[in-house]
Amino acid sequence: MQRRHFLKLTAALSAAGALPLWSRSLMAATRPLLPIPSILQPDARGQYTLTAMTGSSQWNGKAVPTWGYNGGLLGPALRLQRKKAVTVNIHNQLPEATTLHWHGLEIPGDVDGGPQGIIAPGATRQVSFTPDQPAATCWFHPHLHGKTGYQVAQGLAGLVLLEDEASGKLRLPMQWGEDDVPLIFQDKQLNKAGTQIDYQLDIMRAAVGWFGDMMLTNGVQYPQHAVPRGWLRLRLLNGCNARSLHIATSDQRPLYVIGSDGGLLAEPVKVESLPLLPGERFEVLVDTSDGKAFDVVTLPVTQMGMTLAPFDQPLPLVNILPLRVLASGTLPDKLVDLPPIPATEGLQSRWLQLMMDPQLDQQGMQALMDRYGDKAMGEMKMDHGNMDMSHSAKPMDHGDMAMDHGSHGKTAAYDFHNGNKINGQAFNMTKPMFNVELGKLEKWTISGEGDHMLHPFHIHGTQFRILSENGKPPAPHRAGWKDMVSVNGWRSEVLVRFNYVANADNAYMAHCHLLEHEDTGMMLGFSVS
Ligand code: C2O
Ligand code: CU
Ligand code: CU
Repeated sequence: MQRRHFLKLTAALSAAGALPLWSRSLMAATRPLLPIPSILQPDARGQYTLTAMTGSSQWNGKAVPTWGYNGGLLGPALRLQRKKAVTVNIHNQLPEATTLHWHGLEIPGDVDGGPQGIIAPGATRQVSFTPDQPAATCWFHPHLHGKTGYQVAQGLAGLVLLEDEASGKLRLPMQWGEDDVPLIFQDKQLNKAGTQIDYQLDIMRAAVGWFGDMMLTNGVQYPQHAVPRGWLRLRLLNGCNARSLHIATSDQRPLYVIGSDGGLLAEPVKVESLPLLPGERFEVLVDTSDGKAFDVVTLPVTQMGMTLAPFDQPLPLVNILPLRVLASGTLPDKLVDLPPIPATEGLQSRWLQLMMDPQLDQQGMQALMDRYGDKAMGEMKMDHGNMDMSHSAKPMDHGDMAMDHGSHGKTAAYDFHNGNKINGQAFNMTKPMFNVELGKLEKWTISGEGDHMLHPFHIHGTQFRILSENGKPPAPHRAGWKDMVSVNGWRSEVLVRFNYVANADNAYMAHCHLLEHEDTGMMLGFSVS
């Protein structure tokens, strides 16, 4: 597949009269080619099939058992059209139960694939839905409660490319894998021998998340990718369990952001660098017309003592090699019409207070420092200026939220599995926390006040607009359709609406997308009727 893609481009290159050897010498023989997820084709009945299966991947010359959809790692991309019905048959060939959630799609609760949509090992589940929302890059991944982090870390994730009339008219780069290139970024931790993914959900990870020291782009380390010259479209997905990324180019060429989680922006937004939260997507255009090679990199991010090597300096994610072939896509001045933000007075409002048991906080931080010592401590100092490890949630000035502090005694027997909470409650699959009226706008405030952590917060069943993010108006490229919002020691407000029903048995989820926080309780279910 990859070889074929490369050969196609080099063939085009020769046809254009360039020297065939010119590109070959540019392509480093030792660097892997960027794998491009295939576009999944429907069968004769027009149905799609996704099979969650075990397999293996090669890293550092060793075979490592991994999981994927229709293959050993990650999965194919589904290209869907707005208002066109789709049916997907999901087979589970894994040794354990799973679910398949459509992250970013506005579809009814019973096909959303949240924690209740369990597919037993060996079983098949058929889901049908008709997406009706603006063109966007979304994704699918498992959502089995308590095991989402593990199953995603094993390799289960794939893309959804939703298209509509407006996006089709824009002359954006559209040649999949050539000038329209998906980049799925994930970090992984292998065992010492390099033969197993070393996933742990322990007290340290429940507190800060699972981080790895191996950075992958579409499943391989620092690949190279040949592209035509002109406008290159990159569809960026942070598929990490917990790690925030900060995307830039090695030669400071700007990124023109054209789309966020749930759709295209009103107009391109030029940025020098682009923070990317776990679960978030952005589409960017990059000008490659100068024909010069460059890297897409991730800059160091200060996040809970995890700015450890190799993440302490700009880390290359993929090497982009422009060929002489000319690309045909353009960067339009205007993209789509975004509806203005309506007045928010009088809307139903809700307050979601993210919180962590003080025991989990203290013991998790202690474990972090035991493991990373001075390095983590240095980061901690940078993070909050002091080493006060007893930062239990501050008193709040907004009503009488039930604060479930539990016992403050430090005991080895503390069970962290429900140590993360929203409004004092760890996730309860049997009881939605509230019901939302179908089709009505609501204002939700998600607060991480009294906390020192980054929570990438996600809501199912909707694409929302950010009213404020950590006390500030959203950055221009974060002001369009979103399903993720940053909650970082402060509060963020979003304007949500749900256009489909979700009953209590198939409730929608709202949760922290730091998967270890999600798996240990920082999630709530809500119904829509
Ligand atoms: Cu990407 Cu509820 O998940
Ligand atoms: Cu989701
Ligand atoms: Cu969190």
